[in-house]
Amino acid sequence: LKSDLPPVAQLVKHVSRFRGKMLRPMLVLLAGKACAPDKELTDHHITIATVVEMIHMATLVHDDVLDDAELRRRGATINHLKGNEAAVILGDFLISHSYHLCSNIENQFAARVVSATTNRVCEGELLQLHNRNNLDLTPEVYFDIIARKTAALTATSARMGAHFSGADEQTCDNLRQFGESLGVAFQIQDDILDLTGDVARVGKTLGSDIDKVKLTLPLIHFLATAPSQHGQLLRSLLSGNEPDRAEKVRNLIAPTGSLAYAKQVAAEHVERALSCVATLPESPAKHALQNAARMVTARQV
Ligand code: IPE
Ligand code: IPE
Ligand code: MG
Ligand code: MG
Repeated sequence: LKSDLPPVAQLVKHVSRFRGKMLRPMLVLLAGKACAPDKELTDHHITIATVVEMIHMATLVHDDVLDDAELRRRGATINHLKGNEAAVILGDFLISHSYHLCSNIENQFAARVVSATTNRVCEGELLQLHNRNNLDLTPEVYFDIIARKTAALTATSARMGAHFSGADEQTCDNLRQFGESLGVAFQIQDDILDLTGDVARVGKTLGSDIDKVKLTLPLIHFLATAPSQHGQLLRSLLSGNEPDRAEKVRNLIAPTGSLAYAKQVAAEHVERALSCVATLPESPAKHALQNAARMVTARQV
């Protein structure tokens, strides 16, 4: 990402200084190692690990524009720092670089899988945008949104790790499903944190799902199960623009079982993920993958 142009270099420096959890590259490398515990990882693993993190960063830079977010990875967002125009183009720059890097892998398979994945990610964000202010969002559409915007990339990360270790089709598919289920659980937990998390700990702007009226699993469950008066209250909160709306929504949801319900659903997806790697040979990498899956629902960051 190095650039001789100072304004470009400055933006790149900002995004490289504030690092995240590196979940997706970790999935590439651990899946690769877990599928071939006795072999060294290849340069292709490193390349794909870099590609998926850069794609992820691009989606975050763009997502922060959509969410009007000011804080990301404990630093200011690009849109907050430099405006939406800079953030849009920097996101494009990151995506473009990731494809360029991916094209270094001779066989076109990786480029095909990665680009099909980003198609799905963009479709997920578009589907979510289309459903802004939709207070009748169904669980089916919610799961479709998160499968695309989040789980598609975690699925591809784990799958490509297996692929470059020479794993057979079935094993690659098991790793893909592992990443898919982990990604769904990861996004459900993220949506719980958006409602209940501690900004100082999470390090990013929270409450934006409510601010932008993007319904997530706890709210969908609440609207489907709460006494009609409470449901009406949530609907009117989400339709109006009272001050401290996120806080009020939080107080309405907190005493109910809707957060526990969402946690339970996330835990089921973690179990599904664990079942996908159960038949891999025992190795430190396999155990790390299993721990990563378990961490997804426990995380507060
Ligand atoms: C945030 O992803 C966006 C979601 C898919 C929920 P991460 O929580 O993996 O963000 P970083 O990379 O650690 O900052
Ligand atoms: C994840 O959605 C965004 C992408 C996968 C592109 P969120 O909007 O929940 O992510 P955060 O909470 O801002 O990190
Ligand atoms: Mg966001
Ligand atoms: Mg979120």
